[in-house]
Amino acid sequence: MKTLRVNAGDGYDILIERGLLKTCGEQIKTAVSAKKAAIISDSHVAPLYLETVQSSVRAAGMETVSYLFPAGESSKTTENLIRIVAFLADNGLTRKDCVIALGGGVCGDMAGFAAAVYLRGIHYIQIPTTLLAQVDSSVGGKTAVDLPQGKNLCGAFWQPSLVLIDPEVLNTLPAHYFSDGMGEVIKYGCIKSAPLFERLKNENARDIIDDVILECCAIKRGVVERDEKESGERALLNFGHTCGHAIEKLYDFSGISHGEAVGIGMVMISRAGESAGITEPGTADRIAALLEKYGLKTQTDLPVSQIVHNMAFDKKRTANGINLILLKKIGESFIKPSSLDEVNALFGIK
Ligand code: GLY
Repeated sequence: MKTLRVNAGDGYDILIERGLLKTCGEQIKTAVSAKKAAIISDSHVAPLYLETVQSSVRAAGMETVSYLFPAGESSKTTENLIRIVAFLADNGLTRKDCVIALGGGVCGDMAGFAAAVYLRGIHYIQIPTTLLAQVDSSVGGKTAVDLPQGKNLCGAFWQPSLVLIDPEVLNTLPAHYFSDGMGEVIKYGCIKSAPLFERLKNENARDIIDDVILECCAIKRGVVERDEKESGERALLNFGHTCGHAIEKLYDFSGISHGEAVGIGMVMISRAGESAGITEPGTADRIAALLEKYGLKTQTDLPVSQIVHNMAFDKKRTANGINLILLKKIGESFIKPSSLDEVNALFGIK
């Protein structure tokens, strides 16, 4: 079993091992010594894994209750959040008990937020079942639901007590979900690790996925430990995301996946960086080639001016503009606070 200790919140382990779902109960009991666990999952994941997790948790001596919601981003609402919190109250969970988020990013974000606000905060365990959730959203304690005004606008930093990653679950993941997660994996190579980027280029990520997950989690662990609440370095994890979120919004959050939009965003910002003499020439093409290898898009028909216009409304904007994340070269990233005029100039918009 691979273990990474994260020194954030009260401190917690990320455990990575094939077949971990079947033995998760023992690990959870050791981490939180709860009497009762509320398993939150969705309509796609529950038929595959709920019974396995439930049996293991019960075998470890905990009582379980389960709450399922319809799969998909449209479920990540304040209404469902309140339903989950009410479910925890109806089932009498105490501060000693725990929530288990069994699913992808939507489940982890929403169940994590429910754990953050119920009784002013109880333990929760992340059991991510998508590549994107395994390498990104399950680690670092960002929890949230969406508002009609935008994604993730209502949330909290609330660190999990344990993250259990079973790479075997990726075998049942439809191909497009795997590609979607690869967008974030490639991002880690771009911002922090040229060797990871090269490895993804020279090998097939599916063949080395356990190592890839470990490396991505190790990178994210370091960033989160140094900047838990995103007042600096953690913003590097948003590489490609400012353009990407604008693109997702222009597609009305349907017809393009998060990974695809982020991929296009990484290429766009790197091309702009190259034109401005900031980014090593050829970087955008190298990123595009790697995205293509993993079945991701590298461009969109949307006009650049429209994308850049929408970037100005990004939720992470500052009073003075936005923090652009740029590469010097593959593996080396930095934050460039930019006024809206500077953003327009970077993308060649008059
Ligand atoms: N997903 C970006 C972060 O956790 O900061």
